[in-house]
Amino acid sequence: MFIEITKNNREFLFFSQKNSRKKKKHGFKYLNIKKAIYLIQDKPSCKVFFAADPIKIMRAQGQYMFDEKGERYLDCINNVAHVGHCHPEVVKAAAKQMELLNTNSRFLHDNIVEYAKRLTATLPQTLSVCYFTNSGSEANDLALRLARQFRGHQDVITLDHAYHGHLSSLIEISPYKFRKGQDVQKEFVHVAPSPDIYRGKYREDHEDAATAYADEVKKIIEDARSSGRKIAAFIAESMQSCGGQIIPPAGYFQKVAEHVHKAGGVFIADEVQVGFGRVGRHFWSFQMHGEDFVPDIVTMGKPMGNGHPMSCVVTTKEIAEAFSSSGMEYFNTYGGNPVSCAVGLAVLDVIEKENLQGNAVRVGNYLTQLLDQQKAKHPLIGDIRGVGLFIGIDLVKDHVERTPATAEAQHIIYKMKEKGVLLSADGPHRNVLKIKPPMCFTKEDAKFMVDHLDGILTVLEEVMETKNDSVSSQNTVCRTEVPEEVHMESAKHSATESRENHSRKRNGVCPDQQALLSKRLKT
Ligand SMILES: Cc1ncc(COP(=O)(O)O)c(C=O)c1O
Repeated sequence: MFIEITKNNREFLFFSQKNSRKKKKHGFKYLNIKKAIYLIQDKPSCKVFFAADPIKIMRAQGQYMFDEKGERYLDCINNVAHVGHCHPEVVKAAAKQMELLNTNSRFLHDNIVEYAKRLTATLPQTLSVCYFTNSGSEANDLALRLARQFRGHQDVITLDHAYHGHLSSLIEISPYKFRKGQDVQKEFVHVAPSPDIYRGKYREDHEDAATAYADEVKKIIEDARSSGRKIAAFIAESMQSCGGQIIPPAGYFQKVAEHVHKAGGVFIADEVQVGFGRVGRHFWSFQMHGEDFVPDIVTMGKPMGNGHPMSCVVTTKEIAEAFSSSGMEYFNTYGGNPVSCAVGLAVLDVIEKENLQGNAVRVGNYLTQLLDQQKAKHPLIGDIRGVGLFIGIDLVKDHVERTPATAEAQHIIYKMKEKGVLLSADGPHRNVLKIKPPMCFTKEDAKFMVDHLDGILTVLEEVMETKNDSVSSQNTVCRTEVPEEVHMESAKHSATESRENHSRKRNGVCPDQQALLSKRLKT
């Protein structure tokens, strides 16, 4: 017997595989399983990657994933499989500890102590108390509780387009979600502009974007105070990922922390996506901002267990003591269990032994160089931004207004998939190609990815140019329109076929008009 799910009634309907004689139950007809799955994915609560043509992955190793036909895909988006999919050292550590013991943390165990020691050694000294949890959401939820308990304040300042997790408490502070759903912004939530110097309120030509963005936070605090509200926390990813691969300008976090502290709030750095050495030169992304910036609470998750669900909140003794003085015990059945900590220790070992931070610098710089060359060649690329193995490609229809090239981004990720490269598009306009691969990504992988991107952009831009030629006399030189049939047309070409036409593409394209000085982080 197996189970099918129908679209209309969402009931389970059964039939025997052996004789395949389909029986009707409750008057609903049976569907074959593929059709049923397709139909329930019509309105999914969780969208799979490449929803129009999903991939079934059967196994993975290092930076590669393999589907049921054995086709190989280069994984450029998986920041969970941080040290590489199914890393043998991590798998071995988990299996070994599973054989011996797994239990909750109401017993003494060396693994949790050892892990806490190793983890805090990567952080500034004041961040010395660890709470172990099982997901990024749990970590951020606990961080909010710590912050609120600290001074008894309630309000939270979050960044526009931020995502901090799927719990109710986090949807409330995630404009990425609540702006799309039917939820309204709660009165205790304040949204500050994302410090995006490419398409945000203050851009790279602003004389001091860091101060301007920090002043927005200051204004929020003042407005809240005048209506009798008190700020418990400012929360931000050290680099915004879902928000469009945004790297805040140097000095922004220091200034924000100053305003927030004055208001009696705490600074929460969400490192769930961007921690554990992804930026290369530093273990934590917030450390790019200099030694004079130390958050009060740091949350971490995804890469921590390389796919095993483990996460953590690290904070100061003062905040932890305020939390425990409330008399509230913090107990988490699975948090910090011996298996999770064994996995976490193995991940830390691999990062060190394989010098994955060094790799992130080397390969990240090389990849950024290759992409900068592509930017000079392809008008669809508006901005390349990134640090280490965290890179964004902001696609635009024109370089003056920076109109997001959303449809083009979607087209590109599907075409890249056909070439065996997994990428995704995110940001408020879904036009930023996100690159955040396993940290064992090589220069060869980078070249492979960029060569295919080059080929696909070339074909796409040609199709767009051909279309535009007919209307170009009415349009400004820079503006490009995506013909609806672009998918159809470009599908006729192979990515490599049109490479000889690159030079032709350069003609008639508006020059990049954003060559102004930007105050970016020196990393
Ligand atoms: C920045 C950030 N914080 C928190 C979370 C929530 O983590 P989890 O899905 O493990 O609960 C996510 C998940 O995507 C995230 O990107």
